[in-house]
Formats: sequence, structure tokens, C-alpha cells
Amino acid sequence: MNMKELVGKKAAEYVESGMTVGLGTGSTAYYFVEEIGRRVKEEGLEIVGVTTSLATKKQAEALGIPLKSVDEVDYIDVTIDGADEIAPDFSGIKGGGGALLFEKIVAEQSKSVIWIVDESKMVDYLGRFPLPVEVVPYGSLQLFKRFEALGYKPTFRERDGERYLTDSKNYIIDLDVYPIKDPIAFGEKIKGMTGVVEQGLFTNMTDIVLVGTPDGVVVKQF
Ligand code: 5RP
Repeated sequence: MNMKELVGKKAAEYVESGMTVGLGTGSTAYYFVEEIGRRVKEEGLEIVGVTTSLATKKQAEALGIPLKSVDEVDYIDVTIDGADEIAPDFSGIKGGGGALLFEKIVAEQSKSVIWIVDESKMVDYLGRFPLPVEVVPYGSLQLFKRFEALGYKPTFRERDGERYLTDSKNYIIDLDVYPIKDPIAFGEKIKGMTGVVEQGLFTNMTDIVLVGTPDGVVVKQF
């Protein structure tokens, strides 16, 4: 079993019948969602899922996991999601899979957020992984130039030679800004720029991280 599968399955142990559960996005969250689907089918686990992307929605529907939209629930008991980098203070970068906006909306409605990663994602400082910024297409080249002028080395994300489009039909500009020493302040600065819909720094959102290592899953609690 690879490390992503290991943590994905382990994370499903945090889910109990009666819960409303945020279902993350990405190749690690994929295994978590598969395990939840298995438990729904084989063990009669009764949960309601709230998905963080169209891709996860499709996966969850195929597995027969009952779903509600984030606007149909009062709160989410626990959200389990992947991350691209996690610093020692449990701030993180998300959005490598392009789902940062829905992921942040779902995380903010959650009583508890658990991140699941393999050990390569644990870093001293955030930013070696390019910081994803979701922007509205209108005026995005002007915003790109402002990022350039600020020294953030921006890149428009592409897929199959075309501009990548998020589930909300926005663009993503990835910033090369290592090291991010004050993620809260930097996140606020980026979010405050006109045309930015959301940025991929997640701060003060999670208190449990499950890390997949060759020796098994390590549970880190903040
Ligand atoms: C998607 C995300 C993912 O959670 C993040 O990119 C980690 O993905 P993976 O588990 O595939 O490495 O933020 O927007």
C-alpha cells in the first residue's frame, strides 16, 4: 500500500455514523473517499458528504455516498483533505489540484479539519510548492503583471496547452514566493488584490495532520 493510500484509509477511522463529512480533493483524499464509500456500502456507515470539487462529487456519487451542498448544511463535523505543503505551525498550501476555493469554503464550515499527506509534504517554510491564486479571467493579465512587478514570478496554470479553468471557471496563477515566513500576512496581502478570488494559504484551520511514512501513519496534533 502506498503512503497516500495508507493515510487515506486511516483518516476514514475518524468518521462515524451521523456525521456530516467534508470530502477533500486530490490523489490522497481520493483514497479516503474510496474507503468511506466502502464503509457506506459494506458496513452501513450513515453519513452525509459535502464535496470540495466536481471531481470528488463525481467520485462520491459513483460510490453511492449521500451528498449535500455546503449551503444545505448548518455545519460540517469533520473535513478530511490533502495538502501540498505543511509548515511546523500547521499552516499549509493547498490548491495543487485547483480546488482551493471550494476546499476553503468547506473547511471554514467545519468543526474539525484533518489533513492527510505523505511525509514529503512536511516542510520548514512554505513556498517551494508554488502558491496557487484563483483569479477572475477579466483583467487577469493586469493582475499577472502586478504579481511580476512585486517579484512573485507568476505563471498561469495550464492543462493540455490551454489555460486551466477551476470549477468556478476562474484561472489559477501560481506564485514562486519561497520562503513564506508570515503566511497570514502574505495571504491577506494577496487576497486583497483586485481580481483575486482566493489564495492557497490555509492558516489556523487544522489541528490534526496524518502523515504517511514508510513506518506507518504518524498522527500530529497541534
Ligand atoms: C487540491 C488540493 C489537494 O488537496 C492538494 O493538491 C494535495 O493533493 P495530493 O493529495 O494529490 O498531493 O489542495 O486543490
